[in-house]
Amino acid sequence: MSRKVVILDHPLIQHKLSILRDEKTDTNKFRTLVSEISTLMIYDATRDLPLTDKTVTTPCGTADCKVISGRKLAFVPILRAGLGMVDGALALVPAARVGHIGLYRDEKTFKPVEYYCKLPNDIEEREVFVLDPMLATGGSAIDAISQIKLRKPRSIKFLCIIAAPEGLKALKEVHKDVDIFCAGMDKQLNENGYIVPGLGDAGDRIFGTK
Ligand code: PRP
Ligand code: URA
Repeated sequence: MSRKVVILDHPLIQHKLSILRDEKTDTNKFRTLVSEISTLMIYDATRDLPLTDKTVTTPCGTADCKVISGRKLAFVPILRAGLGMVDGALALVPAARVGHIGLYRDEKTFKPVEYYCKLPNDIEEREVFVLDPMLATGGSAIDAISQIKLRKPRSIKFLCIIAAPEGLKALKEVHKDVDIFCAGMDKQLNENGYIVPGLGDAGDRIFGTK
């Protein structure tokens, strides 16, 4: 089944993204913006969660209400840069569990190298949201999602802040059942596998390591 690709064009997201891209934005501000954008992205990416009816007694009577029908969520950041998106996601869904997948791109081949994987024990009961600010060649997202699929979660969505067309195409081809949400769709990759214009190295900018 081919799933959807959503470009989040909300003005708040687009405004924050333009500050995030700016090379003059410092680490502290960058971290805050990644978190805020992630909150706004989760708001949209959870819009199809099913609701069930509930009657609530108010001080003045009874109200016919809706509540989310027992779905459990898990956020899985791809280390390192995905960590920057976790607090923003948890701000809206504090009861979610958090798994971690550690991958880095080999600097020469751009192929992902896995070094860590710890997922919630009950992940097969959960809707998983994989978090990584950058979708460049797509190798990291594809491998992370393949790892998670081995544990058979109910569904998987992928959230990135900026995507390159190359990565989007590759991810859609390999994981046809995964919805993809991004805030910015850029032009291309450069010869070093960086997204152009992008925002540079997301991990280094979040953690101040350059
Ligand atoms: C970055 C980014 C993604 C990956 C995207 O991580 O956070 O995980 O590159 O590139 P791809 O789509 O070509 O795989 P990086 O390898 O720089 O590791 P880091 O987060 O630890 O800095
Ligand atoms: N990883 C990053 O952090 N930035 C890019 O542009 C590509 C991969």
